[in-house]
Amino acid sequence: MPNQVRKIGFIGAGNMPQSIIGGMIKGGFPADAVLVSNPSRPKLDLLEEKYGLTTSQDNHEIARQADVIVLSVKPQLMREVCEDLQANVPDLANKLIVTIAAGLRFASYYEFLGDNIRVVRVMPNTPSLVGAGLSGLVADSSVTDDDREFVTQVFNFVGTTIWLEDEDGIDVLGAVAGSGPAYFFEFMHGLQRAAEEFGFDPEQARLMVQQTALGAAKMACESELSFIDLRKQVTSKGGSTAKGIEAYQQAELGEISKRAVGAAVARNQEMAKLF
Ligand SMILES: NC(=O)c1ccc[n+]([C@@H]2O[C@H](COP(=O)([O-])OP(=O)(O)OC[C@H]3O[C@@H](n4cnc5c(N)ncnc54)[C@H](OP(=O)(O)O)[C@@H]3O)[C@@H](O)[C@H]2O)c1
Repeated sequence: MPNQVRKIGFIGAGNMPQSIIGGMIKGGFPADAVLVSNPSRPKLDLLEEKYGLTTSQDNHEIARQADVIVLSVKPQLMREVCEDLQANVPDLANKLIVTIAAGLRFASYYEFLGDNIRVVRVMPNTPSLVGAGLSGLVADSSVTDDDREFVTQVFNFVGTTIWLEDEDGIDVLGAVAGSGPAYFFEFMHGLQRAAEEFGFDPEQARLMVQQTALGAAKMACESELSFIDLRKQVTSKGGSTAKGIEAYQQAELGEISKRAVGAAVARNQEMAKLF
């Protein structure tokens, strides 16, 4: 059972809020404390049918009833949605605002909703959709310890959470954990192609790679050893793995990762200026 129950209202019923809601209900959060709004009905009907939630096509109605408002619309819609809430929902200052939109800074939310609000920015990554996410969280100075505990609980329902000191941390977390699944998929694709080149059919090659990735990730999560020590454990001197690793080291995989993260951080910083 959750430590804290508050009425939580999601504005936008896309893939990410649907996964968070699914994780919350599965984790024992009471369905009657979850509210959702969305302009079109089909996703709302699904959520109502599946979990018995309160839904509405009217953002105001959901925001008025909620103690915690989770802004779950695309960043480019955020100004319009927030300004509309500001004009129509009283007491926003008494509610906690949580936003999962990428890019927008605290300053934008103060501009759209008034500067007396309490805001937590969250950057969940895509594996949250399968309950194995990593969410970076950052709070403004008016957010309370109870608020932090509540938001931690919500995002722990779809994975693990890390609190960051400041907003710049979100750009870096986005470049590592947000973009990270794509880096892993790129690597997995390369490994699958290599297996195919050596005669495996695509199906078997895929199975080999996906199960190996799952096994390695599980070992990395369950062990206290550093990644490099885990790697050494699988690498006997003079053996075949050592030869494979030598090829990766010659290609400077570590340097490539640094360049990839640096490029993604720079792009996140650029995109933050668009809003
Ligand atoms: N998916 C991810 O992996 C991920 C990761 C990190 C952060 N995020 C952030 O999470 C947010 C939502 O992403 P998503 O993947 O859930 O997007 P999505 O699947 O595209 O859903 C967006 C939802 O917003 C609804 N919407 C449109 N206009 C609205 C309005 N005026 N008021 C309320 N709802 C409105 C849409 O409804 P209709 O279908 O009726 O148009 C749609 O259901 C975005 O800001 C994104 O940056 C997503």
